[in-house]
Amino acid sequence: MRMVDIIEHKRDGLELSEEEIRFFIKGYTDGSIPDYQASALTMAILFRGMNKNETSILTDAMEHSGDTVDLSSIKGIVVDKHSTGGVGDKTSLAVGPLVAACGAKVAKMSGRGLGHTGGTLDKMESVPGMKIQISSDDFIKQVNEIGIAIIGQTKAVDPADKKLYALRDVTGTVESIPLIASSIMSKKLASGSDAILLDVKFGSGAFMKTFDSAVALATTMVEIGDQLGRDTRAIITDMDEPLGKAVGNSLEVIEAIETLQGRGPKDFVELVIQAGGIMLEQAKIAKTREEGEKMIQKAIDDRSGFKKLKELFKAQGGDISYLEDTSKFPVSKHIHEIVSDKDGYVERIDSLEIGVSAMKLGAGRATMDDVIDPSAGIVLNKKVGDYVKKGELLAKAYTNKLNIEEVLNEIKGAFTLSTKHVIKQPMIHKYISI
Ligand code: URA
Repeated sequence: MRMVDIIEHKRDGLELSEEEIRFFIKGYTDGSIPDYQASALTMAILFRGMNKNETSILTDAMEHSGDTVDLSSIKGIVVDKHSTGGVGDKTSLAVGPLVAACGAKVAKMSGRGLGHTGGTLDKMESVPGMKIQISSDDFIKQVNEIGIAIIGQTKAVDPADKKLYALRDVTGTVESIPLIASSIMSKKLASGSDAILLDVKFGSGAFMKTFDSAVALATTMVEIGDQLGRDTRAIITDMDEPLGKAVGNSLEVIEAIETLQGRGPKDFVELVIQAGGIMLEQAKIAKTREEGEKMIQKAIDDRSGFKKLKELFKAQGGDISYLEDTSKFPVSKHIHEIVSDKDGYVERIDSLEIGVSAMKLGAGRATMDDVIDPSAGIVLNKKVGDYVKKGELLAKAYTNKLNIEEVLNEIKGAFTLSTKHVIKQPMIHKYISI
């Protein structure tokens, strides 16, 4: 088989055979197929697309390009949640402990933040001592003992995706539904969970700019999961504003703690309860989503979710006195208040702008080698639907950097005010399940 023929087949709009797809993934992973041929094929896929069958085969080939995690020795149904990348998205830190407190098993492999989106691992590491690399035996033991572990993915899992994603990033081939779907699903499937809930975002700063494209991506991923034997469901949520109020690593951990103590921001609590309800149904702990939602609410009210968060951090070496007393987290040297220069209802808070601003304050990485400042970030004081008066606080910026006047202006510019009353839409725009 020759790679050039495979490229030409896709260029001409033909369906690729299973053999062709597996030949490409194997050859690209072992280095026998060069980057220039892989980039020609990914560009042809971007223009010509892939049907359901091709996308499932591609996902399966990528999933098996390296190690797969065997979670069969974990008792019970293992559930996982994945977000396609949000700003202020600390959902895993709240929903993971809550569903585990209700009896589900959570064995999660998370990522680091890059660009305007944060990563769960960086957030967890803002608690001193927290380890995110543990052996697979200890990972499984921890899930069996306390019901939850959240760790970093090892290099040996899905090497095909690591190479392909880096290539796509610099060849203009990220925005292809079959390529995004196979990239996300191959990693999730290789991580071994029985059931997966996907939170697919749309809007400013999301991969998918429109609701329709987010639904198309989510549907593709749910179909792949189903075809490959995992209970996969998706929720479609918007990024018309950051999730919750806090954006930045320790600031978001504090907000997750407050949420588990019954003091979370309204939009975030709504998402956590609804996502948790679905995950409990997937874990067969609740008969319906609604029953699951009630169980999650109870785990917030009786603090069993917060207790589980502390167990999670303790098991992975984290100093839980920080969780018990959040005033122990270091605070940035400079705290700037951003105030409104007019009256109005908040119509939109540009998530991309807030995410990029938080990164410039020190909360994120422009490149994978940048070092994160855990205390830096932004706390919103107003959210979509709120009324704001001229001179009132819109947000606070936390940083250890100097000369950030331009960033403060960008944060103010992220707010769109309207003279008309604005009604906040429900968090979940659509739920997709087979
Ligand atoms: N996230 C991924 O993991 N892969 C993509 O292709 C896009 C988003």
